[in-house]
Formats: sequence, structure tokens, C-alpha cells
Amino acid sequence: MQIVKKSASEVPAYVTSIITDQLNQKKNSILGLATGSTPLAIYKYWIEEFKQGNLDFSQAISFNLDEYVNLPASDPRSYNYYMKENLFQHINIDQNNTHIPNGQAESLQEECARYDQRIQEFGGIDLQILGIGLNGHIGFNEPSNELLLNTHVTPLSESTRIANSRFFDHIDQVPTQAITMGIGSIFKAKKIILIAMGVEKSEIVKQAFLGNITTQVPASLLQLHHNVEIVVDTDCGKLIT
Ligand code: PGA
Repeated sequence: MQIVKKSASEVPAYVTSIITDQLNQKKNSILGLATGSTPLAIYKYWIEEFKQGNLDFSQAISFNLDEYVNLPASDPRSYNYYMKENLFQHINIDQNNTHIPNGQAESLQEECARYDQRIQEFGGIDLQILGIGLNGHIGFNEPSNELLLNTHVTPLSESTRIANSRFFDHIDQVPTQAITMGIGSIFKAKKIILIAMGVEKSEIVKQAFLGNITTQVPASLLQLHHNVEIVVDTDCGKLIT
């Protein structure tokens, strides 16, 4: 595991250089993508680089980490909508090559199994982008006594619903369940970049990457992955020397 500290303004360019190398090496890379506030500046940078002709997504394939259960793709708070709005519609990725779990599938169990199968059919994720929740979650793998390996339906913890209520008018509107790639699905990625920004994430980042490995801080398991880079801005990395 490598921890890389950059100024907040350097983080998007730094992460973009990794994705550019990845796509230069393998045009049809399988990218694992995340939502939330953290990737926004990074996706903006990808769009700029694409416009400059420095990034080509024409053969890239993407799989998103998670999606709310029972929020239509047309809902602006869905991750489906987020991805189109903040990335896909601005770059040359083939929409047929983008994958997001369907939180409205008739059988959510079948949807989860199909999602993992699809990732494997494509040969597994080459580069996974991750954020980290204030409670240490990755994807929606919430702190728990046990963590599930495969893509699954999960209840959202109270702290996650509170954190995400900023996108909704009222906390009661925040879905109570989501589909998320499991810890095993994430661990199969050949390379993982976790990005954490801002002072409010500094304590959990310290716990996750300098502390013991525990399922109560799901991100801490990444210490065991063979190729993971933690990219933090100076505020977030202030407790890490
Ligand atoms: P954030 O979410 O980027 O909005 O802080 C990160 C996460 O919950 O994984």
C-alpha cells in the first residue's frame, strides 16, 4: 500500500495521469468507477483532458460500485443519473459499455449475481477508483461484524443516510437500501486508487490505513490488497506523517 499526499488542487491531475497511463496501456481497460463528492473534480479533469484529445474512452468499459435500491435511473439523485450528468455524456465512452447495478430490477438477487458475472466476463476490473465514507465504508460496504464478498443488497447505515441526506430534501427520502459490489468484487481489481479529501476524512483515513484491519472500518481491509494507492489531499493527510 502506498499513501500519496498532494495539495487539493493537484489531486485531480495526479489521478488523471494514472487513468491516462492505464488507457494508454490498454485501450479497452475495465474501469471501476465511484460516485459521491470526491470524484467530481476528478471527472471534470477527465472531461477536460478528453476535450484536449489527451484521453480516449472509446474502447473503455466501466462498472460502477453501487446504486440505490428503488430510485429510478431518471431520478437526479440516482448514481445512474450522476454518472451520465458528471461524466458519461461529456466523453466518448460507449453507453453500452457502462454498467451500473439496477436498483429497480425485479429480482435484486439475480441482478447482483449477474453484475459480478458480467465483470468476470470482461476479465475483471483493471483500475478501481474508490472514495471512503466518514464511517470507513467503501462502496456501500458498511461497518459490520462481517463483510460480504459478492455484489449484494445492503441496508444503509444511519450515518451514511445522514451523510447522503445533503442530496435530498429530507432524510426520510434517502433510500434505506442499495446494491453494492462486495469486498471480494472490489478486491479482484488489479489496481485500486482510493481518494480522500478534506479535514473531515482525516481521522477515518488514519484509522483505516494506519490502524488495525477490522470489518468495522471496511476500508482498512485494503491494507491487504497487492496494488493499492491511497491519494489524500494535505488536509485529509494531516494526521498521517
Ligand atoms: P463522498 O463519499 O465522496 O461524497 O465523501 C465517499 C463515499 O461515501 O464513498
